[in-house]
Amino acid sequence: MTLKIADRGTISPFIVMDVMRAANERAALGGDVLHLEVGQPGTAAPRRVIEAAKTALDHDRLGYTDSFGVPELRRRIARHYHDYYGTDISAERIIITTGSSGGFVLSFLSAFDAGDRVALAAPGYSAYRNILIALDIEPVVIPVGPDTNFQPTPELIIEHAQSIDGLIIASPSNPTGTMIHEPALALLSDYCRDHDVRLISDEIYHGITYGPKAQTVCALNDDAIIINSFSKYFSMTGWRLGWMIVPANMLRSFECLSQNLFISPPTLSQLAGTAVFECTDELDAIVAGYAENRSLLLAELPKAGIDKLAAAEGAFYLYADVGHLTNDSYSFCQKLLAETGVAITPGVDFDPDRGNRFVRFSFAGPNSDIAKAAEKLIDWLR
Ligand SMILES: Cc1ncc(COP(=O)(O)O)c(C=O)c1O
Repeated sequence: MTLKIADRGTISPFIVMDVMRAANERAALGGDVLHLEVGQPGTAAPRRVIEAAKTALDHDRLGYTDSFGVPELRRRIARHYHDYYGTDISAERIIITTGSSGGFVLSFLSAFDAGDRVALAAPGYSAYRNILIALDIEPVVIPVGPDTNFQPTPELIIEHAQSIDGLIIASPSNPTGTMIHEPALALLSDYCRDHDVRLISDEIYHGITYGPKAQTVCALNDDAIIINSFSKYFSMTGWRLGWMIVPANMLRSFECLSQNLFISPPTLSQLAGTAVFECTDELDAIVAGYAENRSLLLAELPKAGIDKLAAAEGAFYLYADVGHLTNDSYSFCQKLLAETGVAITPGVDFDPDRGNRFVRFSFAGPNSDIAKAAEKLIDWLR
């Protein structure tokens, strides 16, 4: 007898994690590796967060919390919206999650039924598509390119994604770092409101921008679900902490789902994470380091003949068209890793149809690593 294994486990892998594993295996065998594949800060959590965690370990029981998170963190996030965006949000609408990844599962389950159709841009963060498929929700791909700054527009939605139930946007985006500025953001929000489309805005890269700062959709659309995280700007990736702002009439649905699926987000991370909002000087200094890395790559990659790059206005990625070098970005990245120790991510992780001519460079690591990687790449391609 063969026991059944559900089809939902056959969703595409998260290829960047496979690349990271290959890079780590090479390092374990004594090989040199420069990590430009994985999208995480090369820095630890700020000192005050670590001190707060130590205090919590010494003094707190660390039991479950309310499924929406501890009140002081929810209130502190509400204050952050007032201070950073000038937007007043009730702490009641803020839900703490297990990273933004936990927020995707909860929001997709709360907003959509099996068979619903949710539009998203390609290239885009691959987990959106894969989580939707695992939940029997249909991803509807909107191909985007340089002509619309790699972002969806109402015109593209009409062309590629009619009769949809939801739209996921990310500004700045992964893998391109491109943003949706006013008035384009308001146009998208209005389109969703006029067509009964639930807008989900992934704002995880807010705080990491190199020009104008990102705008939050919660200032435009009360029916939108806003997803954010402590993993990027706040440099707390492994603490697995995030938050959402949800419409008031969905609170009970979110509550029932989160109580049953997760009980509560990680308590230690919540108690420590409250301190991170007092660490903006330290965090902005980290972003200044990303800006240096970005300038370095923008100057060096063209010397390797890689000059078709998305305008990375935020996040810590450069998405490069390498169609003149390969039509198989997965093998290209494997060969680059094997022959130079430079790990980068193939575009197929973000765009299964057109990603074979693209790669993504993550520049969140130390400046010396990014400089060495650029040198090696130039030599390799010479
Ligand atoms: C656009 C985007 N959203 C969400 C995530 C998931 O982040 P986390 O679950 O650590 O908050 C990532 C991770 O790279 C990302 O790039």
